[in-house]
Amino acid sequence: MPSSSERVLTTFAAKFTTTPRLYFAPGRINLIGEHVDYNDGFVMPAAINKGIWYAVAPNTTNTASFYSTDLHESLSIEVTNVHKMDGWKNYVLGIMDQVQKAGYVIGGFDCVFGGNLPVGAGMSSSAAVECGLLVALNDLFQYGLDRVTIAKMAQKAEHTYPGVQCGIMDMFANMMGKMDHVILLNCMNLDFKYLPLPLTEYSIILINTKVHHSLAGSAYNERRNECAEGFKILKLLVPEVTSWQDLSRADVEKNKAQLPENIYKRSLYVTGEIERTLKASKHLENHELKQFGKLMFETHEGLSKLYEVSCPELDFLVEQAKKFPAIIGSRLMGGGFGGCTINLIKISEWGAITQTILKEYKAAFNIDAEVYDMALSDGTYEAV
Ligand code: GLA
Repeated sequence: MPSSSERVLTTFAAKFTTTPRLYFAPGRINLIGEHVDYNDGFVMPAAINKGIWYAVAPNTTNTASFYSTDLHESLSIEVTNVHKMDGWKNYVLGIMDQVQKAGYVIGGFDCVFGGNLPVGAGMSSSAAVECGLLVALNDLFQYGLDRVTIAKMAQKAEHTYPGVQCGIMDMFANMMGKMDHVILLNCMNLDFKYLPLPLTEYSIILINTKVHHSLAGSAYNERRNECAEGFKILKLLVPEVTSWQDLSRADVEKNKAQLPENIYKRSLYVTGEIERTLKASKHLENHELKQFGKLMFETHEGLSKLYEVSCPELDFLVEQAKKFPAIIGSRLMGGGFGGCTINLIKISEWGAITQTILKEYKAAFNIDAEVYDMALSDGTYEAV
């Protein structure tokens, strides 16, 4: 079977006469720090070796022509007539809209894209589609945008076209990822540092529930609104705070009576997760992976019981993981409501263990889950 990049290039040659440049835009994982990027918290994502390939070339017309090799769908649109449509089209159109809103001119171009990133699995295929296109346009039409600006523009595109009020984590990881490293990102001011994660003893294994989540659904935006409300109430009660980073779980507990039940739970989760992520980063720096993994289990508990973004399939996989001493950490990853769990598993044992878990999962839900072994990659780059 041809690789994704070969498929993209062959399809491009069959459809267009122009000569493309080729880009790889990675998906991302997140070790810890879930649902806190839009709450000024800390996150710990990394770009991965699965992603979207983009072949893009300028043409001499006024038209942008796209073809998705994964969906076998195309889109041709005048660059002067960018407007909202539906599905994947909104991801590329949202980028074109942001470029034009920033005052840059887009010429006509031909574009074929596709990859090996499962859609709706919590690995951020949307940020890969958005950032990959923007990096290509930035090169083709020489806008001179830096990587962090590209990440911010892609986030804005996601807010305005698909309409998901996402945080910055996915786009930041997509643009700033570094091979064999995770990023500790402070989402309040975008300060970050790279932490090495050599995968010599443990592998990062994702298990895809194959339960499709749709972040575009209302639940994600609803959580975001609940957190905004929580912060507004807590800020009145603890006036000296300026962000969630200044609040502790104790502050939330102390003011429980003033918070509606769901807001109390969300607030307790957010303050706990910010504390956990900082603790986890210390463990990583001290090579204490077992303690790190314990915090991942705690995050799952919080996401499931307090933040309520899990589902029976994800909870089942994490419960299974707890049975194996070789799995030192497991939790749902990404937006939730489906998608993948992320697991730290002893390299020598992950093959056999995941086979057992897949069997149990099939027996419980009659779904064939999938397993992916992750390597940490660089952010979006041009393939030479
Ligand atoms: C999605 C969003 C991110 C982040 C995660 C949850 O991936 O795009 O901004 O909020 O969910 O951590």
